Amino acid sequence: MTKTAILGYGTVGSGVAEVLCGHEESIARKADGPIQLKYICDVREFPDSPYQDRFVKDFSVIENDPEVGIVVETIGGTGVALDFTRRALKAGKSVVTSNKELVATHGYELTHLAAEHGVCYLFEASVGGGIPIIRPLTQCLAANDLLEITGILNGTTNYILTRMARAGAPFADALKEAQANGYAERDPSADVDGHDACRKICILASIAFGRHIYPDQVPTEGIRNITPTDMDYAEQSGRKIKLLGRAVLQPDGTVSAYVCPHLVDMENPLAGVEDVFNGITVKGDAIGDVMFYGKGAGKLPTASAVVADVIDLARNKEHRKAVLWEEGGPDAVSAHPMATRWYVRAQTRPEDLRKTLGGGQVLARRGIEYGETACITADSLTPEELKQRLGALQPLSVLRVLD
Ligand code: HSE
Repeated sequence: MTKTAILGYGTVGSGVAEVLCGHEESIARKADGPIQLKYICDVREFPDSPYQDRFVKDFSVIENDPEVGIVVETIGGTGVALDFTRRALKAGKSVVTSNKELVATHGYELTHLAAEHGVCYLFEASVGGGIPIIRPLTQCLAANDLLEITGILNGTTNYILTRMARAGAPFADALKEAQANGYAERDPSADVDGHDACRKICILASIAFGRHIYPDQVPTEGIRNITPTDMDYAEQSGRKIKLLGRAVLQPDGTVSAYVCPHLVDMENPLAGVEDVFNGITVKGDAIGDVMFYGKGAGKLPTASAVVADVIDLARNKEHRKAVLWEEGGPDAVSAHPMATRWYVRAQTRPEDLRKTLGGGQVLARRGIEYGETACITADSLTPEELKQRLGALQPLSVLRVLD
């Protein structure tokens, strides 16, 4: 019998309780024995919860109970969650989490702390919600040298961009709609400013390329400045605007990682990832491109990934190999930002914009305003090279193009 405890009875924590207790028999079959939810730790009261008898407010009850072998951390953030995770690992308990912020900032420390104490720190649910991505990277694609990861990693912003493209809605209206549907938080900045996607690409890059990439090493831009006009130009040129997280291995062994909106060709499968769905493409030297697609957020999809980690731990108690990577540092990331082609919109004549940019494709759209031009550069340029070409010109919009 494996005994577990859940820390934090929010959306994901309550989903984990529901899945663990609602699928007891099939989980027992897959885990080679029953998994019992012994405790739920939360400082709040939940009088309507069906698991009344299991609530505790004091984490030390769980920490000091030798029967508990697996702790599920769904508190979120890097405060109490970090303290409880360290204490659980030091007490010889494996920890499973959906907490991307904690893994992105302390994953190196916590995976190594787990290994020191002969236990595991697993986090399949931290990226892509219910989509299997961590285990495929570490196991199914293990024969490959991984070269690149590019993904739509945030469901809320993908929903907003989809609504803007389909309904021609401005960003503010699409955000309100996302909030009304329960996708975006009242304070939406973690999603719309790209921080959530940044944490997720850090986790994927650390696993894929072997050194910890920290969020403050990843230039991050969100979607607040995307306008219906840009959406229109993208659409008319056979592209969609998507918020992408990218991590690309460079020839010198460093990693270029960044998050920002891109124009994506309709023929690229990422352009077809709509609404709250996530899509992640991984390039390996043997397999080429492989894509993962599904629900990247939500109570039960995320709980599905958490419980899969719990089952994995219960089934492989004695011989589960840890997922480990090396410490990061300034030399882990590339000194040179990636070069791509760019979409530039400016209040200028087409011939002038093409001259400024050193050539490029002028885009068309219905209802174009006099004197406004949008162009895609002919050359791949780093942000610095683009800035030099733009000189004194103040563009209305600048977006990367995914080639
Ligand atoms: N707010 C996140 C999203 C939830 O919209 O994708 C999952 O990390």
